[in-house]
Amino acid sequence: MTLYKAMLAQLFGLITAIGLNPLLPLEFSGLVTFLILQSSSAMLYSSLFKQPRWWLIIHTLFLPSALALHSLELSAHWYLLTLILLTLVFWGTVKGDVPLFLSSAEVANSVSQIITQESAQYFAELGAGIGTITVPLAQQHPQLVINAWERAPLPWAINVLRSRHYANSHCYRSDLWNCDFNQYDVIFVFLSPAVMPELGAKLQTAMRPGSLLISSSFAIPDWEPETIKQVNDLAKTQLYCYRINY
Ligand SMILES: C[S@@+](CC[C@H](N)C(=O)[O-])C[C@H]1O[C@@H](n2cnc3c(N)ncnc32)[C@H](O)[C@@H]1O
Repeated sequence: MTLYKAMLAQLFGLITAIGLNPLLPLEFSGLVTFLILQSSSAMLYSSLFKQPRWWLIIHTLFLPSALALHSLELSAHWYLLTLILLTLVFWGTVKGDVPLFLSSAEVANSVSQIITQESAQYFAELGAGIGTITVPLAQQHPQLVINAWERAPLPWAINVLRSRHYANSHCYRSDLWNCDFNQYDVIFVFLSPAVMPELGAKLQTAMRPGSLLISSSFAIPDWEPETIKQVNDLAKTQLYCYRINY
């Protein structure tokens, strides 16, 4: 559905630009104006279709990048290779999964401090990417059992490779919703605002009472965090720490 919405937004953006461009005064009509019209209307349609925010960037860059690449007259193999790589990294994104973007080293340090404070023994990361959090944790906490859940093949493979020396770290290439949330003392997520209500509803009863959920950057609506940890990184990340009580 997300992919169809994206294609429709691009198509409607193109039709809008074709319709509006001839109406502009001659000195304003040209390729650059056409591209601005197309990408801004594609963005508008994308918002009307209620696509997640990251699609706005894709819609802005899509046609200008396509034309720029076309002008380079690259061999078709490069497009195929790029498509394969992007598919392996952004596996479920077209179906609505959160895309890969990475936590900072400072976030990993803060999570490590929380693990120490909690005396945690079992830790899971849902959507673990390339192991930005789990690899340093495996190194710093050899007694901690770490389970990394990641669905996209390439980030998962990179995480497996980076974790190969740490017997306490296990990477599962699986949907995060298949995780048995009940076994962990601490669960870390860095996902998107769109999934937080569903995640909250699921974890409220699926996590063990007394365990801790850390959500990087995105709060769970209507949940009261026990603490909000301010991380001193470029993004000024906030870690929302929720104690599970029910
Ligand atoms: C924002 S990135 C965070 C990466 C990593 N946790 C970090 O902090 O650097 C979200 C990750 O979740 C993964 N993901 C999204 N939906 C998922 C799902 N349903 N099951 C497993 N992984 C998922 C994506 O492939 C992506 O790697």
